[in-house]
Amino acid sequence: MGIIYNEKAKTFTLHTQNTTYQMQIDAYGFLLHLYYGRKTDGVMDYLLTYADRGFSGNPQDTGNDRTYSLDVLPQEFPCRLTGDFRSPVLDLVNADGSFGCDLRYQGYEICDGKYNLKGLPAVYAAEEEAQTLIIYMKDQVTGLQVELLYGVLPEYDVITRSAKVINTEEDKIRLTKAQAACIDFLHGEFDVISFYGRHAMERNMQRTSVGHGAFVIGSRRGTSSHQYNPFVMLADKNATETSGECYGFSLLYSGNFLAAAEKDQFDQTRLIMGIHPENFEFLLKEGETFWAPEVMMVYSADGFEKMSNCYHKAVREHVCRGRFKLERRPVLINNWEGTYFDFTGDKLLEMAKEAASCGVELFVMDDGWFGKRDDDNSGLGDWQVNEKKLGCTLSELADRIHNLGMKFGIWYEPECISEDSDLYRAHPDWAFTVPGRRPTRGRNQLVLDFSREDVRNHIFDEMTKVLDKADVDYLKWDFNRSISDIYCAVLPAERQGEVPHRYVLGLYEFLDRLGKRYPDMLIEGCSGGGGRFDAGMLHYTSQIWCSDDTDAIERLKIQYGTSFAYPVSAVGSHVSACPNHQTGRIVPFESRATVAMAGTFGYELGPAKLSEEEKQQIQEQIAEFKKYYDVIHFGNYYRLTNAMEEGPYAAWEFAKEDGSEALVSVVASRVRTNDPGVRIKLRGLKENQIYLVNGEEYPGGALMHGGLLLEEAKKEYQSWNYHIVMK
Ligand code: GLA
Repeated sequence: MGIIYNEKAKTFTLHTQNTTYQMQIDAYGFLLHLYYGRKTDGVMDYLLTYADRGFSGNPQDTGNDRTYSLDVLPQEFPCRLTGDFRSPVLDLVNADGSFGCDLRYQGYEICDGKYNLKGLPAVYAAEEEAQTLIIYMKDQVTGLQVELLYGVLPEYDVITRSAKVINTEEDKIRLTKAQAACIDFLHGEFDVISFYGRHAMERNMQRTSVGHGAFVIGSRRGTSSHQYNPFVMLADKNATETSGECYGFSLLYSGNFLAAAEKDQFDQTRLIMGIHPENFEFLLKEGETFWAPEVMMVYSADGFEKMSNCYHKAVREHVCRGRFKLERRPVLINNWEGTYFDFTGDKLLEMAKEAASCGVELFVMDDGWFGKRDDDNSGLGDWQVNEKKLGCTLSELADRIHNLGMKFGIWYEPECISEDSDLYRAHPDWAFTVPGRRPTRGRNQLVLDFSREDVRNHIFDEMTKVLDKADVDYLKWDFNRSISDIYCAVLPAERQGEVPHRYVLGLYEFLDRLGKRYPDMLIEGCSGGGGRFDAGMLHYTSQIWCSDDTDAIERLKIQYGTSFAYPVSAVGSHVSACPNHQTGRIVPFESRATVAMAGTFGYELGPAKLSEEEKQQIQEQIAEFKKYYDVIHFGNYYRLTNAMEEGPYAAWEFAKEDGSEALVSVVASRVRTNDPGVRIKLRGLKENQIYLVNGEEYPGGALMHGGLLLEEAKKEYQSWNYHIVMK
């Protein structure tokens, strides 16, 4: 049983295969957090201490007992008004203008399967794979009800949290903060690990210690953003890839978010995560409900890689949906870096022909096929095929591509609108604009108000007109700016604070509808590369273009950071032209492929410019990718080196769970004279089994503890794939 209620101790205990999470209803009906960590039995309330702490208030319920204070005790779902001065997860303004609420325990329910969230992405599982705990809380004065939702997937070591807030009273309340998760740690010195970046350089790993005060990251850009990823870890000071305690928190949400780790006056650490409280307000009238986006938590007692592999498996199998989640993704070629806007149907067909002859399976026509769109200043919103530019209908182009034995895909940016477009001229009020002001442009475009059903319906209809007629196997859903000037022309003033969240709900509704209408169409997410790379989007698009930076050497860092929370099957990665268009760097063709293979794999270049030798190499690379596909996409992933540190090599490994096969990829970051040699210790093999590496035999223990002796790099950015099979 994953969830146990102990009537005597009034505890709820959630067990996964290797972890335990415990809460307790105390004598006053407050819900205290007791423990999260390595699997254990017992009631953990003996860890709590009670003392008269100056300036930490006491609830009236405790009479004259000054030793009870919620400013000190670990809480499960802290709100203002109970004497806790730390950061709450739920905050609100009541009808009388007062702030906060006082939630007390009402009851619970345990059921098989995993709860769903209305309109939001959530981890899903079959009845026998998961259990749900609902804890009912209520404010006696205002009648506000909160249902705390917990999902337990024992086999994956995953625990999810969300909350449903319901206003049962006649009076309105205004939510000003509604986050899903809070973990109070009674003790421990932590590092917080987060992933920051910018356009074309996403998810750089950063490790800092949690000191007194708060460490806060988040996004106010309307999307989860390039700047900070909605995934954070708390780790032991000494935790490494293979040892030490760490906790992961991944938010299934693609809009504004905030994650904060704060050490308090008694050296306790509180971690909270959820929607960003800035740019947020949600009005609840009588009977109305708010659902907080879900946080997916994983604890590992054995370092980061164990945690990452739990996430990889759970995201792949219980977040991603649809037919492609476990299917081999087609090797694609995308024309963007090959042509940018400068193409015709014939030119694309030529590209496709060359690519098909090399074994590429899917041709993707990127930006520029619709409306008036020969550069990025116009046309967004006019989703009519530019048949003049293509020289044929879309369906004819699709047929020609299909006749080459390839699949066919196209690019869309449904959420945006150019001021120079017929759609904008007809409906300027559909773009986010604050009344009386001129909206900020981003890439010379504005954002459509996707919180509005009529706006979404129009775009949806325009898209289906195109997609119903042509046989489209793949769609790239892009979004190329941050959202500003948020104002919904059809909502009253008191509801304007809801628009950023309603936008995200609108986006999810749209993607859900699209996925259901075209279940055989593979959808790849994108936002100027990886500006919306989060577990929420992965519920709708089973892969996401990882970064607009296609330089293989830069990608080492980007893909390293991405690997902490997201599986390789989600990472869009392509081989691009040389010198690289973003950095001008020259990297050998095979090394560009080695890096792209740690992803969905494809090409983003003009094949006509390639030499015969390179075309031959493409065939070999594709054959190699197909050969190793299972171990790459379904195996465990091991970061053998830290890409954030300068070293002579970057290395990573994929290994099947049963240890029968592994693939070790290595890229030399620089050539060294008189190279001292590098031995890399492998992981995930069986100690006592014999493995074959390049025809030589080695015991698994030798490769893991002695290491694999790497070949010496003879040219800059040389790379190797070592295939390792059990004999
Ligand atoms: C974004 C994407 C690119 C490409 C362009 C097209 O930058 O990330 O891959 O699709 O838009 O305009």
